[in-house]
Amino acid sequence: MAEISSETRFLHAIEMGLGAWQWGDRIVWQYGHGYSSSDVQQAFLASLNEGIRFIDTAEIYGNGRSEQLLGQFLKEIDQPVLIATKFLPFPWRLFKGTLPRALKASLGRLGAESVDLYQIHWPTPLMSIDTMMEELAECVKSGMTRTVGISNFGQSRMLAAYSALARRNVPLASNQVHYSLLNRAVEKNGTLARCKELGIRLIAYSPIEMGLLSGKYSADSPPPGARARNYTGLLPKLGPLLKLMTEIGQDHGGKSHTQVALNWVICKGALPIPGAKNAAQAQENAGGLGWRLTEDEVARLDQVSDTVTG
Ligand SMILES: NC(=O)c1ccc[n+]([C@@H]2O[C@H](COP(=O)([O-])OP(=O)(O)OC[C@H]3O[C@@H](n4cnc5c(N)ncnc54)[C@H](OP(=O)(O)O)[C@@H]3O)[C@@H](O)[C@H]2O)c1
Repeated sequence: MAEISSETRFLHAIEMGLGAWQWGDRIVWQYGHGYSSSDVQQAFLASLNEGIRFIDTAEIYGNGRSEQLLGQFLKEIDQPVLIATKFLPFPWRLFKGTLPRALKASLGRLGAESVDLYQIHWPTPLMSIDTMMEELAECVKSGMTRTVGISNFGQSRMLAAYSALARRNVPLASNQVHYSLLNRAVEKNGTLARCKELGIRLIAYSPIEMGLLSGKYSADSPPPGARARNYTGLLPKLGPLLKLMTEIGQDHGGKSHTQVALNWVICKGALPIPGAKNAAQAQENAGGLGWRLTEDEVARLDQVSDTVTG
């Protein structure tokens, strides 16, 4: 395992964060239907109350609304919060100076002077990794972000980003990727192991598989909106995994499916950032912390997850 640089060490000390895609997003999450800005503010406050203070947003979430809401909420508290946001590489924005300009606009919405992590939302073939990393390094050097990361980068692109930043004396802090009991690609293709080797924090998005691992959805009662289409194949197969999660949760004093799902991600050495629409969800998610699945339980979960997704 590589030595973790002093600049990025704080990320390795964070066990769980809070995802803010839900804050303002109507397309996937139906913000405004069944939950409002006051609900997500309560989710934010409940998380802080539980000691979770790493918030992941992006300029694209709710077309800037997520960053704006976070900025609004930050004004009403006096606790320090760690902010991660993301640059969206739309093809028409890929020219020199775009990233620092986009970060400046994010900082405006957040009402902050700097963020703790600035990430490229996903890779693009339209700008070389070297140029993109040059721009990210610029954001660190100007003091607008403490560290930089990538998202949805496969191993070879991740290594290219790591080297391009290293040439500029900037560490690659993180790679934010899809990782849950129902999506273990990064574990199976070696990305997680490579992250650990290089001291890159793997940030796990959709760790509850967009609500599926909470156990509240089934083939007869699918999630609303776009999620139902994405998961038609998976929903009828969830039974055995949910059953095992119930048993294991019971052995730990009644932990919920969601808490087992989040603890599993933590046991794998990744940082989950579950999204929450309200205080109750945020509070339940925080209960994924403070205890540990045994190695045997993790192995049993792996085995059943293979039969469900395989
Ligand atoms: N970098 C990227 O490309 C990328 C992609 C996706 C996500 N992300 C980040 O990762 C974060 C998390 O991922 P995600 O939001 O896709 O999925 P997730 O965290 O797996 O699922 C969140 C959803 O699950 C349901 N939920 C949450 N807590 C629950 C609980 N305790 N009990 C029951 N249901 C619960 C809620 O939806 P319902 O109540 O409607 O079911 C919630 O919106 C995002 O907010 C975002 O910050 C990044």
